[in-house]
Amino acid sequence: MDNGSKTDIQEKIAEIVQMQGRYVEVLQSVGRLMEQNQESAMCLDVLGQVSEFLAYVYEVKKQYYGRPLDWAEEYAFALVKDSYKDIAGEQFAAVSKRLRECANYIQKSREELEEILQVGTYNADLGKMQFKEGANPQEFANRDEMVQAIEENSMNPLEQFFFCGKHNKMTKWCHYFEVYHRHFKRFRNKPVTILEIGVWGGGSLQMWKDYFGAECKIIGIDIMEECRNYEEERIKIYIGSQEDREFLRKVKDENPNIDIIIDDGGHTMNQQIATFEELYPHLAEDGVYLCEDLMTSYWQKYGGGYKKPGTFIEYSKNFIDALNARYSLSPDLKIDRLTASIRSVHYYDSMIVLEKGVHKPAMVL
Ligand SMILES: C[S@@+](CC[C@H](N)C(=O)[O-])C[C@H]1O[C@@H](n2cnc3c(N)ncnc32)[C@H](O)[C@@H]1O
Repeated sequence: MDNGSKTDIQEKIAEIVQMQGRYVEVLQSVGRLMEQNQESAMCLDVLGQVSEFLAYVYEVKKQYYGRPLDWAEEYAFALVKDSYKDIAGEQFAAVSKRLRECANYIQKSREELEEILQVGTYNADLGKMQFKEGANPQEFANRDEMVQAIEENSMNPLEQFFFCGKHNKMTKWCHYFEVYHRHFKRFRNKPVTILEIGVWGGGSLQMWKDYFGAECKIIGIDIMEECRNYEEERIKIYIGSQEDREFLRKVKDENPNIDIIIDDGGHTMNQQIATFEELYPHLAEDGVYLCEDLMTSYWQKYGGGYKKPGTFIEYSKNFIDALNARYSLSPDLKIDRLTASIRSVHYYDSMIVLEKGVHKPAMVL
């Protein structure tokens, strides 16, 4: 690439960032105006422009990343739609608030895209994977170029399967594979049972089957009836909701030994908590419990919010106390089943991993 020239995607993202800056200002000022003057015509005009802009961002992202809008843009879109309804109902104070919130979400997306522009539009967190010598991650023009630039020898078996293997559809953040491999490798080629909540296209169940070897058994749970189609030898699918404790009890009854649980289901707070409460006690004594996409603990749509009571992140902070309960004098923190069974708690970007194991009292010698 010539010095100073940009790939298509870089140009498009740079253009989007510039437009975002403009829309943030416009939304904030129209938001203020709506509070005082109820300028509906002007507001409708701005909402129309913002919708068109977000539709454009959707197309660009779909074309270049394969994934459409990110979470902040989705929220902005939802706020625009709700603002139309509020204008029709003459709820001007609500519109004013929504426009400013919309500006905040667009600003959030802008900060993320600015960071992406600085490091390279496809220079994602790849865990331990490395790019081939000579590859310049600032310059990848598309997703395929990025994938081809990954040094194959730096991939773990899960990454090999995901990027180079033949499998059904699956969707994973690229940095998850390093975490899986770190905590799961001791179970490979053993007669283990793996349970994943969230089957979607069935590809991840095939990945576990390949990774854990000929003696493993894979169980998938999903709410979508069509996921039954992904059943195959040593892959069993249950259809039901992870929030339905009765259903989970039935799965437990039919599967007395489970070594690894991966929660990649609906990602709402209730789902994650109900699933943990039902399934963690059932996990093998030295098993691993992994819950992913914890970013939803910060997203309103999923019941999240920063330090909001009841999010899975807040709930999980109790695991740290449980692990250390033997050292507390407080009657509010007592040794319980978690204290006796958690050996370690690991936090990663959007993931938590609990390693189970008998946790006896510690001793200083
Ligand atoms: C992110 S996708 C799973 C992706 C899959 N694990 C992979 O790696 O490709 C989330 C899945 O969770 C399912 N889901 C949503 N709500 C659920 C619920 N309450 N119980 C079980 N599954 C649910 C969805 O139908 C969807 O297939």
